[in-house]
Amino acid sequence: MPLRYDFLNMMRNRVGAEGVSPEELQALAGRLELARRALAARKADASLGFFDVPKRQPSRDAMRTLLAKLDKEVETLVVIGIGGSLLGAQAVHQALDGLETMRRGARRLRLVFAGDATDPRAVADVIEGVDWKRAALNIISKSGDTIEPMAVFTLLRAELLKAVGKKKAASRVIATTDPEKGTLRQIADREGYATLPVPGNVGGRFSVFTEVGMFPLLAAGLNIDELWKGAAAEDAAFWKTAPLRNVPMLYAGLQYLLLRKGKTVSVLMPYAKRLTLVGQWYRQLWAESLGKKIDRKRQRVHAGPTPVAAVGPADQHSQMQLYNEGPFDKIVSFLEVDGFGTDQRLPEPWPDIEGASYFAGHTMKEIVHVERQASAEALAENRRPNGTLAVADLSGKSVGSLLQGLMLATAVAGELMDVNAFDQPGVEAGKQAMVRLMGRKGH
Ligand code: PA5
Repeated sequence: MPLRYDFLNMMRNRVGAEGVSPEELQALAGRLELARRALAARKADASLGFFDVPKRQPSRDAMRTLLAKLDKEVETLVVIGIGGSLLGAQAVHQALDGLETMRRGARRLRLVFAGDATDPRAVADVIEGVDWKRAALNIISKSGDTIEPMAVFTLLRAELLKAVGKKKAASRVIATTDPEKGTLRQIADREGYATLPVPGNVGGRFSVFTEVGMFPLLAAGLNIDELWKGAAAEDAAFWKTAPLRNVPMLYAGLQYLLLRKGKTVSVLMPYAKRLTLVGQWYRQLWAESLGKKIDRKRQRVHAGPTPVAAVGPADQHSQMQLYNEGPFDKIVSFLEVDGFGTDQRLPEPWPDIEGASYFAGHTMKEIVHVERQASAEALAENRRPNGTLAVADLSGKSVGSLLQGLMLATAVAGELMDVNAFDQPGVEAGKQAMVRLMGRKGH
């Protein structure tokens, strides 16, 4: 079931002058088609690789072999990375772990995520929270030179060495990195670690369906074939669906039109607690891809929407006040899940008390859907543009299609804004400053 998008509350007839007119939407169709053509050219010359990843299913067998080779004592996989090298696996793991998307009879390692926090308390929490006799490490860094994961890796590797000795420790480290260059590649070659490649034409934040995200998820027992299937179907639909019926295109196009009218804040608000980290993943994707100083004509533009990750209904009781009554600078995109694979009907312990009985007999699924609907209606009444992306369920296929859809939307938004959505000079500048301050030679 593909990603769906209800964008009626983005339109003028619902939110007045704050919204998009039918004429503006029609005029957008041509630009969207041009954007798709530009992306098709980059797909064809293989300079951009994330489109094809789910269909290609990179290292499918190699990853299974690697997992099977890990000795039977291993129960925990500590996954070390930061930004695009960690967030995707974290988000999908939170969305699906333990649900019917698990592979039957699969080996199921506990995942512990590290490398994105460098404060000593956070590092100690990992060191103290893992039984190192039963642990393995998956260090992930595309460049192989990012200080946060690399520094944490040296500490966690030392724990592994202490617990199981040099030889066994080496058999329990999997390095996911560039096939040829970088410090991590150099270390892996010297230590004899098993390695998985990060494709050169897939950037960190677009890499969830490569070995970067898929190895940890496979190790956790998830059915990664289903994720790939959902993502591949979404990708296939993107290339053949008309612009104004095409969810990633419409999503990007409407955000773009409203950004130009001063709606600089883009909120993603899932109504499913398990999708909280999808909000965090999207926040990185949208910010790092679209926040740029120069456009592709080398003009200084300082462009980019500010993505905000919220979650319903919790943020209905915090952020929603601002969204409804604060500045007219936001677009809210809800994320709805049709069915959760489980539900609860509310009992009626106090039938004579109206305040506790009016919701009795209803289900939690009804409540969460009504909450999303109520929020959307309230926003529209306050002339605040909002839309709803929807997936059928919390399955591998649906989550796959959601993530691929959002990556496609990001690529289209980059085209419309005429910025390079696939570089990150601002992040690189921070990395360079860090190694300089830490005294790396030649920096
Ligand atoms: O999307 C990106 O490019 C970044 O967020 C990177 O993933 C992040 O900086 C980590 O880089 P690396 O994988 O090289 O350690």
